[in-house]
Amino acid sequence: MEKMDKDILDKYKKAGKIAIEARELARKKLKPGIKLLDLADEIENKIIQLGGKIAFPVNLSLNEEAAHSVPSWRDTRTYEDGNIIKVDIGVHVDGYIADTAFSVSTNKEDQKLIQATEEALKEMIKLATPGTQIRELGKKAYEVITSYNLKPIVNLTGHSLGKYDLHAGISIPNYDNNDKIELKEEMAIAIEPFATDGSGFVIEGKEGEVLKIDNIIPVRNGREIIKWVSIERKELPFAKRWIMNKFNPIRSKLAIDELIRKGVFHQYKVLREKAKGRVSQSEHTVIVADKPIVTTQD
Ligand code: CO
Repeated sequence: MEKMDKDILDKYKKAGKIAIEARELARKKLKPGIKLLDLADEIENKIIQLGGKIAFPVNLSLNEEAAHSVPSWRDTRTYEDGNIIKVDIGVHVDGYIADTAFSVSTNKEDQKLIQATEEALKEMIKLATPGTQIRELGKKAYEVITSYNLKPIVNLTGHSLGKYDLHAGISIPNYDNNDKIELKEEMAIAIEPFATDGSGFVIEGKEGEVLKIDNIIPVRNGREIIKWVSIERKELPFAKRWIMNKFNPIRSKLAIDELIRKGVFHQYKVLREKAKGRVSQSEHTVIVADKPIVTTQD
């Protein structure tokens, strides 16, 4: 790790520390009956309080949902006994990102799902050394998860990270996809195995609450929203409810819908397990090195 600018490594580490604290808060708050909206707001506020910025809206995906499920403005949904919830948290410091996720359930059978991705993650991290072909990580995820008699979700992947960039070009598979690209020293990668008792695939479900700037064209309505997003979010995703809280909620909702229609904003769909299987996820951010640095772990 001599080559990476020390300043940059420090920022990755600072983002990681903040993500750890935000995650701990989430674990503490996650009791049956809690409103998903309150949980997301509290986690996001914690990130800001600690001097970080939000890399993406906190994802709180329930049961067969795997990713991109984010509370709406005045969302009334709660986390309840018997749900499996995935909490996915993203923090950045000057654009350097920490991405971490965990799963929780009070359901006894779900513990196997959660153990499977925790163990897969742990084993994959050991392989995050220079020269490892990324297929090796996928192979490991597959081995561990299938040893629990479960399936990895093969069309979800981890990803390399760049400055203000959540997907910097390399995907970390959850099965052996034959990709011989090698990990390089100092690469920042988010490793995130997903396991399910369903089919092992996700499909796009309903329109979600996560947006991203796509294509800026001249518009009449929503100019102040576009301005705020361009400055505050750059290319990073944001939640619809953030805009509705910041501006007039009714007017901004109409403006957002129009901006989505015109292609100014991209709207992410909620990803759910194809056979409605239950899904678990575990994730850490790792800097590739002979001794991998896990920024989101103490
Ligand atoms: Co991620």
